[in-house]
Amino acid sequence: MKRLSVFLAFALVMFIYACGGSGDTSAADKPAPKSMIDEPAPDDGKGVGEIKEVSLNNPLKPNMVETGKAIYEMKCAACHKLSGQRVVGPGWKGVTSRRKPEWIMNMTTNVDIMLDKDPAAQALLKECLVRMPNQNLSVGDARDVLEFMYANDGQEVGN
Ligand code: HEC
Repeated sequence: MKRLSVFLAFALVMFIYACGGSGDTSAADKPAPKSMIDEPAPDDGKGVGEIKEVSLNNPLKPNMVETGKAIYEMKCAACHKLSGQRVVGPGWKGVTSRRKPEWIMNMTTNVDIMLDKDPAAQALLKECLVRMPNQNLSVGDARDVLEFMYANDGQEVGN
């Protein structure tokens, strides 16, 4: 609260200086202090996209794992192995411990933006040299694939 009021007072002073028309514009010409410049939010490891929070199932839901597996076989298997071996893209073994679930779902539903903006996705692109194409997954599809990834990483599947 104190910080906010100090900030507001400071902003008001800047405003008066800038608009006072006293002829002394030097204050307005000075670069804004760092705290007033919009800085990009620090990387929280969740990636860029509409997925902000994923709630996980423990044990995993078998029907979601099944659907996720079918989507994997149809749309992902050409480039991703289930082992750790890289083909076109990285193998999926361990992906659920390397990445947050939100990151994985943003990567699968919003890959173009992720490759343009997310530091971890950009680092992968540098290694793999191929841009993962947009697979047009719905958020529901992406959630099922995520469930399948956890199963692939050895998490218990319910019945
Ligand atoms: C044409 C090849 C191709 C297809 C098909 C493909 N990907 Fe990818 N994927 C890549 C590449 C290449 C990367 C590494 C980033 C880059 O270079 O774009 C990647 C990266 C990823 C990553 C990050 C892996 C890690 O280790 O952090 C995830 C998650 C992912 N893909 C999910 C999927 C899903 C889900 C599908 C299917 C719906 C899919 N991919 C289909 C090529 C592909």
